[in-house]
Amino acid sequence: LGAGPLAGRRVLVTSGPTHEPIDPVRYIANRSSGAQGTALAAALRDLGARVIFVTGPASVPPPVGVELVRVETAQEMMAAVTAALPADAAIFAAAVADWRVANAAGSKMKKQAGGPTLEFAENPDILATVSRMEKGRPRLVVGFAAETDRVVDHACAKRARKGCDWIVANDVSPGTGIMGGTENAIHLVTEDGIEDWPRLGKDEVARRLAQRIADRLA
Ligand code: C5P
Repeated sequence: LGAGPLAGRRVLVTSGPTHEPIDPVRYIANRSSGAQGTALAAALRDLGARVIFVTGPASVPPPVGVELVRVETAQEMMAAVTAALPADAAIFAAAVADWRVANAAGSKMKKQAGGPTLEFAENPDILATVSRMEKGRPRLVVGFAAETDRVVDHACAKRARKGCDWIVANDVSPGTGIMGGTENAIHLVTEDGIEDWPRLGKDEVARRLAQRIADRLA
């Protein structure tokens, strides 16, 4: 058995963007690199947790020493998360696409005058689904909120709406350099209130969050 404050604990982490196909060669995506989710998974591993890392197509490599589950779409991520439960804690750091293309083509779309018309269908909200599980809900469910204005207000509202325990909120306005960068300045919204953390490297944010998660599960 491993050592560390999270030895014997099973922690699920989602990370990275999702890709939503338009046809077999095209997709809709977002700019998430997966850096913060990857750093958090590594920090939880370092505290002794058994980490199930469910990741979309990220631009940073996944950590070693975790159970790696690679997915592409939001629907695949939802299925992988359901299959990975139960867990003591679940951390939802992925930037999941809110919408998928409802009329995705089975073969490559041909160039046509005026361009294709895409129809969208809403993806499952993985964080809200797990937060509201009646049976087998992880003891700690943590969501992320990337906002560009009124960061803390939106984070508090999101915490209530999704039903999760904590929200890690950050300001991803252009000019902060946070999205795709190496630093992060977060506000941690818990049942006890709001903490404003200083601007730190994403690895240091991950280490501090992992320690908080360990304290909470102890
Ligand atoms: O609603 P919004 O996308 O801003 O919420 C962000 C949080 O919800 C993140 O923790 C993200 O991982 C999670 N989420 C999810 N499934 C979705 C959309 C968001 O798990 N379909």
